[in-house]
Amino acid sequence: MKICCIGAGYVGGPTMAMIAHKCPGVIVTVVDINAERIAAWNQGPLPIYEPGLEEIVGLQRNQNLFFSTEVEKEIREAEIVFISVNTPTKTYGVGAGRAADLRFVESCARQIAEVSDSDKIVVEKSTIPVRTAQSIKRILDASSRNGAKFQVISNPEFLAEGTAMEDLQAPDRVLIGGETTDAGQAAVEKLAGLYAHWVPRERILTTNLWSSELSKLTANAFLAQRISSINSISALCEATGADVDEVAHAIGQDSRIGPKFLKSSVGFGGSCFQKDILNLVYLCEHFGLPEVASYWQKVVEMNDYQKSRFTRRMLDAMFNTVSHKRIAILGYAFKKDTNDTRESAAIYVCRDLLEEQAHLAIYDPKVPAEEIFSTLDVTEDDERVMVCEDPYVAAEGAHAVALLTEWDAFKKLDYKRIYSGMQKPAFLFDGRNILDLEILREIGFEASGIGK
Ligand code: UDX
Ligand code: UDX
Repeated sequence: MKICCIGAGYVGGPTMAMIAHKCPGVIVTVVDINAERIAAWNQGPLPIYEPGLEEIVGLQRNQNLFFSTEVEKEIREAEIVFISVNTPTKTYGVGAGRAADLRFVESCARQIAEVSDSDKIVVEKSTIPVRTAQSIKRILDASSRNGAKFQVISNPEFLAEGTAMEDLQAPDRVLIGGETTDAGQAAVEKLAGLYAHWVPRERILTTNLWSSELSKLTANAFLAQRISSINSISALCEATGADVDEVAHAIGQDSRIGPKFLKSSVGFGGSCFQKDILNLVYLCEHFGLPEVASYWQKVVEMNDYQKSRFTRRMLDAMFNTVSHKRIAILGYAFKKDTNDTRESAAIYVCRDLLEEQAHLAIYDPKVPAEEIFSTLDVTEDDERVMVCEDPYVAAEGAHAVALLTEWDAFKKLDYKRIYSGMQKPAFLFDGRNILDLEILREIGFEASGIGK
């Protein structure tokens, strides 16, 4: 069997590598319109950093895993076509800032219809609004040539960046939604059979199309809601002297609440949470449910509040001015173990600090300098932003250190050495609560965390 995935990104790349690895009899080709990205998948270094990915790609590439820009040819030859292109928040027209921009998904559907000369199963992997499958199906059926028939099924991805390979290897569940017709169910079974090579059957859930599409948005909204909930409590902890980590631990012991996703932070980032909630909000409004829409909208507002609150706390501590002060930023990715910066809280904090005329010395173990400059809208020779090769260099002469990504390596730094090179008083703001504030204070830092 041949399968093809359109979109060689954070989702398409790792997912297809795992399918190829687990299904040696299946030929998997990942196509992308971005030739540079495809070249990187073929020759390395890989365009995305994900622990364990390089090994699996190394094993399968040119065996049963291929990366190509020959989009039409690969679609034509495949039995199953995954659509895994990006679905960003719309920036123009109706629904700007909230609705999902589906132009890439639509153009994929048109392309599949145009080039196909045999029946195909089309799998929605990208996160999309509920009922998108219907639109895809209409486009496919209307532009179909040569009598090819299509089944559209929804198979949302639940992997988290940084742990993508583990999540793919042992998923909590695989979700597949399809039409309730015989042909629809047969398509669902075919895809389920692929995952059954390594996922226990009881973890492969099948639903109708709309439930599958909505489950993805709902899962992300619930996860993000937990973070906003604990972050809202962090503000109260700071006001009252409670410690948010202690509160999170205490409530997480209640088996009905559970311990995961209760880590207070400078704010959630990543390509999915905010986008998917905004998408949910837009859907609710569209279906005449303004109360439901505003309920979920608050999760995003709380996250914005958390990011700006962090910068305000820095300012308050540093005598209400950071103008021309050097601030070392440790961590720029939206979470550890990824080079992805999409919606990273660090971007917002850095922008706010630049507004306040601070000078930034930024270090991240995986994010390339060009990415940092472009996300901050500055050029390389802008004296306000320096990207450093090493955290000690970043902190040299700084008034403050702000830790914004929870990289494990930051726990092991020599903070005495960092302190000795800084201006005094030396401030340390732990936006991820990974450091021991007591030890930092013993060294001499004016140290604070989130909700403590
Ligand atoms: C994924 C999901 O698909 C998206 O819905 C989810 O919300 C976020 O994660 P991701 O893999 O992270 O997207 O996106 P990205 O890394 O931007 O990769 C998408 C790829 O699709 C890009 O390489 C882009 O060049 C490619 N693409 C886009 C095409 O090949 N054809 C197109 O028409 C559009
Ligand atoms: C998320 C979902 O977890 C995944 O199932 C979906 O497929 C895509 O969206 P991802 O965005 O890659 O995955 O990472 P995730 O681990 O969910 O973290 C998102 C953000 O929340 C990060 O900025 C992270 O630092 C933050 N976070 C997470 C917290 O601030 N506190 C927590 O307790 C957990």
